[in-house]
Amino acid sequence: MRPAAPQGRIFALLGCKGGVGTTQLTVQLGRLLAYRWQLDVLIVDWVHPFGDAALLLSGEDPVSHLGDLLREPERLDATLLDAALMRPLPHLAVLAAAETPLRAPVQQAAAVQRLLALARSRFDCVLCDCGRQLDPVRLMRLHESDRLLPVFQPTLSTIRDARRLLVALLDSGVLPEQVLPVLNRMGRHQQVPAELLEQVLGTRLPHRLPEHPGFSLPLPERPSQPWQRSLLALAAALARRPEQHAARSGLLQRWWRKQWRWNPTPL
Ligand SMILES: Nc1ncnc2c1ncn2[C@@H]1O[C@H](COP(=O)(O)OP(=O)(O)OP(=O)(O)O)[C@@H](O)[C@H]1O
Ligand SMILES: [Mg+2]
Repeated sequence: MRPAAPQGRIFALLGCKGGVGTTQLTVQLGRLLAYRWQLDVLIVDWVHPFGDAALLLSGEDPVSHLGDLLREPERLDATLLDAALMRPLPHLAVLAAAETPLRAPVQQAAAVQRLLALARSRFDCVLCDCGRQLDPVRLMRLHESDRLLPVFQPTLSTIRDARRLLVALLDSGVLPEQVLPVLNRMGRHQQVPAELLEQVLGTRLPHRLPEHPGFSLPLPERPSQPWQRSLLALAAALARRPEQHAARSGLLQRWWRKQWRWNPTPL
């Protein structure tokens, strides 16, 4: 974690239905951004109750969790945040999901705002697993995200919810250019063609991730399978890097990070 410099980016991943892969995708993207481009990444698990992002990355019990930080926003500073995080990999930190009841939405809103500002100032990249809940606090938080990634599957039962989710986001004031939909688990069960989905949802779907039994595994140095390449392409889009660029070191790495943080070009 770096000293404060308020420029990190926030990405919010939203599942339009349970089991579409939101958490797995958050974890995989976190690993890739941290390992491949050495960006300082924070995963925040907003799923309540029963978020499992930390569990996917570490076998250890978290010492603290999101609920602890939101309880006393006035005490929340870099030291407290640092102490609450798990660090399963170099450059990758996780704030585990709340295990206790959260505070009332009004009190939560101020705490959430403070936490996000702090996270932005300390990390290059903040990935939020937002699960399925769209309460007022979540919506407020989503507006602050640089990109919202609704995750869905190409099945009939998911389309309706995908559309509802997109409409809810736009109705709440999220800008279309903030939204980067991700079609996950392509090739599984009865499928709706992606092109038809694009028509129904009224948006392009450039990121299509195939179903694969190894989807939860860390990616090899040289991805060869379609699911690995699509995942890498999505991570590269978030990192604003060409896909083939592996981790750099020393001065060059610092220069790349600076380019990434200040480059205003949209994804
Ligand atoms: N592209 C994929 N190929 C194969 N398996 C996948 C893929 N994406 C996700 N999965 C698997 O699907 C299961 C559900 O994924 P995950 O827990 O990430 O979904 P979720 O949307 O977070 O669900 P929940 O609503 O319970 O939070 C996991 O076992 C995960 O490994
Ligand atoms: Mg989940």
